[in-house]
Amino acid sequence: MARRIHAKSVSDEFLAHSNEEQGHADQIAARMVQLGGEPDFAPNSLSQCSHTEYIAGDSLADMIMEDLVAERIAIDSYRALIEHLADQAPTTSQMLKGILAVEEQHADELADLLEALLS
Ligand SMILES: [Fe+2]
Ligand SMILES: [Fe+2]
Repeated sequence: MARRIHAKSVSDEFLAHSNEEQGHADQIAARMVQLGGEPDFAPNSLSQCSHTEYIAGDSLADMIMEDLVAERIAIDSYRALIEHLADQAPTTSQMLKGILAVEEQHADELADLLEALLS
C-alpha cells in the first residue's frame, strides 16, 4: 500500500520500527529466560495477549494513524509496567525504560510523518 508520494520514507520508517520492535521482543524474552520463565511465541497467544489490535488502514495516512495509536497504547502499557515494577524489579524496570524511550521516539516519528503527509 505504501506506494504514493511519501511512500518511500514511510516504508523505510516502518521497516526500521519493525526491526526495533523485534529487538524489544528479543530483549523481553531474554529477560524472561533469565528469570526462569519460558517465553511463549505462539502467534495465537501473542495476538490474545496483545494490548493493541491489528487494523490494516485503507490509506497511507490511515496506516500511520493506526500505527501511532498502537505506539501510544504501548507507551501507556510500558509506563504502567515500569511504575508497577519499580521497587520490586529494578533491572526489569530499567530495561523497560529503555524500550519506552524507543516507543516514544516511534510515536514522534509517526506524528511527524502524518503531519508531512497531510500538509
Ligand atoms: Fe516495541
Ligand atoms: Fe514502537
